[in-house]
Amino acid sequence: MDELLDLLRIPSISADPRYAEQVRKMAEATAEHLRRAGADNVAVIETEGHPIVYGEKYVDPSAPTVLVYGHYDVQPPDPLDLWDSPPFEPVVKPTEIHPQGAVFARGACDDKGQFFMHLKAFEAMLRSNALPCNVKFMIEGEEEIGSKHLEHFCRQHREQLACDVVLISDTSLIDNETPSLTVGLRGLAYFEVEVTGPNRDLHSGVYGGAVANPIQVLCRMIASLHDGDGRITIPHFYDEVEEVSDEERRLLNAAPFDEEGYCRDLGIRATWGEKSYTPLERTGIRPSLDVNGIWGGYTGEGAKTVLPSKAYAKISMRLVPHQKPESVEPLFQEYFQSIAPPHVHVNVRALHGGYPVVVPTDSLEYRAAERALESTFGKKPLPQRGGGSIPIVAMFQQVLGVHSVLMGFGLDSDNIHSPNEHYGLFNFYKGIETIPYFYHFYAELKSGR
Ligand code: BES
Ligand code: MN
Ligand code: MN
Repeated sequence: MDELLDLLRIPSISADPRYAEQVRKMAEATAEHLRRAGADNVAVIETEGHPIVYGEKYVDPSAPTVLVYGHYDVQPPDPLDLWDSPPFEPVVKPTEIHPQGAVFARGACDDKGQFFMHLKAFEAMLRSNALPCNVKFMIEGEEEIGSKHLEHFCRQHREQLACDVVLISDTSLIDNETPSLTVGLRGLAYFEVEVTGPNRDLHSGVYGGAVANPIQVLCRMIASLHDGDGRITIPHFYDEVEEVSDEERRLLNAAPFDEEGYCRDLGIRATWGEKSYTPLERTGIRPSLDVNGIWGGYTGEGAKTVLPSKAYAKISMRLVPHQKPESVEPLFQEYFQSIAPPHVHVNVRALHGGYPVVVPTDSLEYRAAERALESTFGKKPLPQRGGGSIPIVAMFQQVLGVHSVLMGFGLDSDNIHSPNEHYGLFNFYKGIETIPYFYHFYAELKSGR
């Protein structure tokens, strides 16, 4: 735990170039932990962006090989004033959901606390001569900015990364009494839009009423991206969306979901979303569109009477099978241009994207993960679709030809990407306890015993 707290003190914010040295320091620290745990050929590998940490252990050429993937970078911590304690000064304290205590810090759950469980489980297995699989570790530093350089690295190092399965802890459990395995992740298409009205900022009294305000135009355009049924209005947006079978929808909705508690936790009076779908379906099997930020005009102290020249927004869509970011990109670009009134110019820029993924549940690795969680929770885990994205998972399938096991131990209520991110001590130790069972059952099932 103390070692994890030290890692949480390093502000490895991948998005902010001012923190590049800290990101590197975090990579070095991760490599040092891998070395001390007993991994061989540990290296901090340069990319055109942030480095990748690699390490491996071969125990037996006839044993299966597990590639552990995780990320040591974190999201920016702001808004800082909404944190109860500084984001890079971890504190441990109990919460209602985590009566045994939780570590509060940026990255505690996403993903430092979770990838570190794998290092500790590995160390324990090595020390007790109980590592039944070959292991490769690949911990990257650019997950939170779209894993820009990892795909190239994987294509260049196919041999080095060859494995039977990828094991990832970077997702959530349903709750601490309901173990679950994530069987799907959403993809992503992310845009920045710029709306320009007059060629310069204007006095809102001299010109107001005769010149269209780009902020108001942008608001109207954004508002029209959903209809009254909560459906996205972009033509052909749903064309590639897979209709999930009634059986799978039934299974998905069998997971415990307390809508009242959900609303209470978030301080909302009601949930919202696409008509005819439950909240679990809306985040699991249906796409979504959100404005992630919007700005323009005067936002400083007091009042300034200005009719601004420009307005901006960051708009992203979560994608589901079989949507592709490259099909959604032109659909959004063209539609957003087409709904612009003649009073403004619109510029749309695609920032990054990622493919959705589903993992098979009839595989040896899925069964091994099920048995592992059953061993430590005493209950068979439920399959769950995660609403978030880990774009590299689809790439592992494509480039390395292997499936991933998404065995995460966080909770959706752990505030990842948000102020007061935390990770339960129960979850941290339960993860370390469960991981060796995965190796055990996976090796056993692979050898046909
Ligand atoms: N660990 C999350 C993804 C996640 C969280 C999946 C909870 C399922 C449940 C990951 O670090 C993440 O935040 N991914 C980004 C991807 C983006 C930056 C390309 C996301 O989902 O926004
Ligand atoms: Mn993550
Ligand atoms: Mn994240």
